[in-house]
Amino acid sequence: MIASALFVAALAGIASAVPAPTTGTKRTDWTGELLGLLTKKKLTFGRDGTFKVVSFSDMHFGERWGNGSWAVWGPANDAMTQQVHATILDQEKPDYVVFNGDMMTGENVFADNATGYLDQCFAPTVQRKIPFSCTHGNHDNANNINHQKEIEYEQAHYSDLSYTRMDVGPQPWGVGNYWVPVFANEWDWAPAVIMWFFDSRSFTSGTGAGPGPVPDSANFYWIDENTVPAYIEGQSWLMKAIWGELPPSLVFVHIPFQKSDLLWQLGTPGDHDDEPDPASQGFINNTYTGLDQPAFDAILQLADGKDKVLAITSGHDHGESWCARSANSSGIPLCFDGHSGYGGYVTPNSMVRNGRVFNLKLSDLQAKDGPKVDTWNSYENKTINDKVTLGPDFMKSFL
Ligand SMILES: *[C@@H]1O[C@H](CO)[C@@H](O)[C@H](O)[C@H]1NC(C)=O
Ligand SMILES: *[C@@H]1O[C@H](CO)[C@@H](O)[C@H](O)[C@H]1NC(C)=O
Ligand SMILES: *[C@@H]1O[C@H](CO)[C@@H](O)[C@H](O)[C@H]1NC(C)=O
Ligand SMILES: *[C@@H]1O[C@H](CO)[C@@H](O)[C@H](O)[C@H]1NC(C)=O
Ligand SMILES: *[C@@H]1O[C@H](CO)[C@@H](O)[C@H](O)[C@H]1NC(C)=O
Repeated sequence: MIASALFVAALAGIASAVPAPTTGTKRTDWTGELLGLLTKKKLTFGRDGTFKVVSFSDMHFGERWGNGSWAVWGPANDAMTQQVHATILDQEKPDYVVFNGDMMTGENVFADNATGYLDQCFAPTVQRKIPFSCTHGNHDNANNINHQKEIEYEQAHYSDLSYTRMDVGPQPWGVGNYWVPVFANEWDWAPAVIMWFFDSRSFTSGTGAGPGPVPDSANFYWIDENTVPAYIEGQSWLMKAIWGELPPSLVFVHIPFQKSDLLWQLGTPGDHDDEPDPASQGFINNTYTGLDQPAFDAILQLADGKDKVLAITSGHDHGESWCARSANSSGIPLCFDGHSGYGGYVTPNSMVRNGRVFNLKLSDLQAKDGPKVDTWNSYENKTINDKVTLGPDFMKSFL
């Protein structure tokens, strides 16, 4: 405990040393956020040497059509989404759940009870006492709700199970950038794996900012290039300095990197119902700007030249549920979570709702030829599919 206190204090030091951003309103009290890790139960692998994560994307709670008929549509769908989560959680029995963005359809929610949809979203996971955290999506920013409000509510009401923080990023629509360590056992000083969570910002309608003028930076559709790369570099520099080497990483972000479009055509196992381009990071008015590249480059540094980024997994494109890598993703596997909600649009060949499972094993993470992890889709009809092992041998011939 004392060792990890020192470590977090040291990391907090480096976090607050990240240069202050120059434009917009940015979060500055990073130290306090990072120290919040100390109040959490240390996440550890089980005695069988596994730590299983389920990533649920695109729940879209609180949806309604226009005004009037939603009372039937919304609550009925939301109950089905809870059933999807309950079924998959009971099938997979994960150690951690990630809600990978679009928890709600924010443009449909009311100011006085928007966060009630977070309660509905988290309920199946909380009932099973499973630790969790969130990334936030473009539908989580609207007139009546934004990422910061959602995170503040989650931190205030779920402090026992939630690991979500806002270490860095533009306030209030892009603050959900943080990392969570998982240790082999209670006594280990260095984590066996780090889960990183990033905020891809944007909003679908409304302002994401509440009343008042909306700064241009509010509707950018990628991880903030001014604050987040420096944060990743600063944190990982200190991790290396303190632990001797970087642990393997597993990365979650709602909107996929644009590079996923270059992998889509490879047709790997999983649904391909919903070509990512232009619903991927870095587009403005359907033109690719390249502004998602700085965050991608910083994540690439986490690979440490040794394939240590196990995967970057995203939601957003409901009809996509594959993993792939090639030279076009600099060897980093990019995955999609599919669609776990009965809210949101549905594509014809991906009607059966699912979550994506990552079954982390200490023996795989410490494998001599480099870390690896098994991943698959787990469906509401109690089947699994599209199992692949991400690691040194995965799609080697495409590098
Ligand atoms: C329904 O929406 C229309 C169009 O936006 C609006 O004029 C009307 O006042 C709304 N009705 C109710 C009951 O909210
Ligand atoms: C929010 O308020 C509306 C209108 O009163 C209600 O119909 C809806 O169920 C509420 N939602 C939640 C999550 O409490
Ligand atoms: C995008 O298109 C809209 C509508 O044509 C225009 O108002 C806006 O200025 C454009 N934004 C950029 C950054 O080009
Ligand atoms: C369950 O859903 C998956 C995904 O759509 C499908 O491939 C499989 O055939 C279904 N299995 C059963 C038993 O319904
Ligand atoms: C990379 O993307 C380009 C453009 O889509 C494609 O022509 C090329 O085959 C891809 N290379 C690999 C290794 O996937």
